[in-house]
Amino acid sequence: MLLLEPGDHVVFTEDVYGGTFRLFDKVFRRYGLSFTAVDPTDPDTVAAAMTDRTRLVWLESPTNPLLRIVDLDAVSELVHGAGALVAVDSTFASPVLQRPLELGADLVVHSSTKYLGGHSDVLGGAVLTSDDSLAERLRFHQNAVGAVPSPFDCWLLLRGLKTLQLRVQRQCENALAIARWLEGQDAVVQVYYPGLESNPGHALARRQMGGYFGGVVSFEVSSGDAARSFLERLRVFTLAESLGAVESLAESPAMMTHASIPEEIRTRVGVSDGLLRLSVGIEDVDDLVADLEQALA
Ligand SMILES: Cc1ncc(COP(=O)(O)O)c(C=O)c1O
Repeated sequence: MLLLEPGDHVVFTEDVYGGTFRLFDKVFRRYGLSFTAVDPTDPDTVAAAMTDRTRLVWLESPTNPLLRIVDLDAVSELVHGAGALVAVDSTFASPVLQRPLELGADLVVHSSTKYLGGHSDVLGGAVLTSDDSLAERLRFHQNAVGAVPSPFDCWLLLRGLKTLQLRVQRQCENALAIARWLEGQDAVVQVYYPGLESNPGHALARRQMGGYFGGVVSFEVSSGDAARSFLERLRVFTLAESLGAVESLAESPAMMTHASIPEEIRTRVGVSDGLLRLSVGIEDVDDLVADLEQALA
C-alpha cells in the first residue's frame, strides 16, 4: 500500500483470495483507503467502478475460487487510460502459464508458498514490476518494513523453482482430466475450470495462458453437508488450505479459505456452501479420480 494515500480508492476482483479481502477490509480500510469489488470479467464494470480517486485496480486471474478469467490486456489499457495502476495476483497461473507484465500490468504478485515453492514447506511472496521507479519504492518499503525471507527459505524456494515448469505442466494435465471427469458426475452441480469448453473464460484463457489452464479445479455439490461429507471421505487428497504443491489438496472455500468474507457477499459472488476447491498435484491421475469417485459416492 506504499503507493496509496488516505482517501485513495481501489477497485478489486470480487472473488478474490479471502486473505486479500480481509487485508483490504479489516486493515487498509482503517488507514483511509476505500475499496469497491467488481466482476472484472466484464472490463466495463471496472470502468464504471473507477472514481477520480481510484489509484489501483487489483486483479486475480484465474480468480480464487471460481477460476474466472480476466482479460488482463483489455483491463490494463482501460485502467491506464484513467491514470491508475494495475496489480495482478497471478499466483494461480504461476509464471509458467501467465506473465501479466507482458499484458500491461504494472505490478505482479505471487504467493511463492504455492506453485513457485511447490512442496508445501516454505512461506513467501514476491512483488514484480518492470517499472524502475516502482521497483525503487518497493525496495525502500521492503527495507523499511523488513519483509525479507530467511536464507533457508530462499534455498527451499530456489530448489522448488528448478522443477516449476515440469510440475505445473503435469498439474494442468491432471486438472483438465479431473475437470472433464467431474462434468460427467450426477452428484456434481457445476464445474469451474477454464480448460473446459463449456467455461465462459475458455477462449480467453487459451490465449492468455498459453494453452494450459492451471492446476486448480472448483466444483459444486448440492449443499454444505454434502461438501463436508465429501471432504471427510477423501483419502489421497489432503484436506487443507493452500494450493500449488506436488500433493493434491481439497478444501471448502466457504468454511476455510474464504470464511472471512461475509456470507451475503460470498453468496452474491457465487461462493456457495457446496463449493469445493481442489488443488491438483502430480500424482497418478487414475488414483486421484478413484479417490474423488469413492468420496462422491
Ligand atoms: C491467490 C492467492 N494469493 C495470495 C495468497 C496468500 O498466500 P500465502 O499463504 O503465501 O500468504 C493465497 C493463499 O491461498 C492465494 O490463494
